[in-house]
Amino acid sequence: MKEYTAIIPVAGKGVRLLPFTQHCPKTMLSVAGKPIIAHILQQVEQCGIRKVVFVVGYQKEPLIAYVRSHYPHLETIFVEQKEPKGLGHAIYMAKNAVTGPCFIVLGDTIIDGDLRPLVACGKNAVGVKTVEDPRRFGVVEMKGDLIVGFEEKPQQPKSNLALIGAYSFLEAGQLFSCLEEVIASGKTIKNEIQLTDALSCLLQRGVEIVPVKMNDWFDCGTLEIMLQTNRVLLERHSHIPEKFQTNNHIIPPCWIDESAVLENCVLGPHVSVGEGAVLKNCRLEDTIISSQTELEGKSAQHFIADKYTK
Ligand code: G1P
Repeated sequence: MKEYTAIIPVAGKGVRLLPFTQHCPKTMLSVAGKPIIAHILQQVEQCGIRKVVFVVGYQKEPLIAYVRSHYPHLETIFVEQKEPKGLGHAIYMAKNAVTGPCFIVLGDTIIDGDLRPLVACGKNAVGVKTVEDPRRFGVVEMKGDLIVGFEEKPQQPKSNLALIGAYSFLEAGQLFSCLEEVIASGKTIKNEIQLTDALSCLLQRGVEIVPVKMNDWFDCGTLEIMLQTNRVLLERHSHIPEKFQTNNHIIPPCWIDESAVLENCVLGPHVSVGEGAVLKNCRLEDTIISSQTELEGKSAQHFIADKYTK
């Protein structure tokens, strides 16, 4: 198999997740004990991919520092999208850094499962999931087993199959050529150059794209949904190192990073605590504590804290 390059667009501002996106891009927000980008890179590595191109923009420094310190074994390249012109434009920024097969995962896409079928199927493929209301997603139109169309956020969707934000292409050059065509045409939707339009262009050129169902896809679009995703992921992956059981009361499921410091706390259920966080005399339930957050004497439920906002 030819080596895949991953492209992860992480330039977006994440306005719906303010104030937590004031100091970092959305992909650096913590869910179930680690930043969203760490969930994504775990999947990318599972697929055997070792070269990753990040399309950065808004608050790029903390992301770059995190990736460099935590993933020194990967070949990482950072390219900048200087203006927020949409996802299609962001991916196009990676053009000079990618040849051969490529795999795109959007920076806010958490999949708690196996992405390998997308790269192992030996075809151009898009991850899809049946959703109740597809109008806020890219939507796939099917004829039998074949994809015959794509539409971005249609008001009258032709199916319930949404694009989840994971795409795999056998030849990046074909995708970039279609992105170029979309950009040259001046076509935008909601003022943004769309990746979905490049997918339609590939279909029009006779390129086959197959759907791969991914049911364990989690959205992190709002703070409420992030807490919900945190709960679901903790139900599946609880991790409470033995050393925290003395001097604290931890009610599973929780995810406590080994490097955290806990003193006299009652935590859980559904509490995740990130790297280097220090909690003293806290009672927390249904809560996300991001890395390096220090809290003392806090009682809360349904709560999110990071080192700036607590
Ligand atoms: C993007 C894509 C859309 C896809 C979605 C998945 O939209 O444009 O096709 O369904 O991600 O999250 P966005 O969420 O950036 O508006």
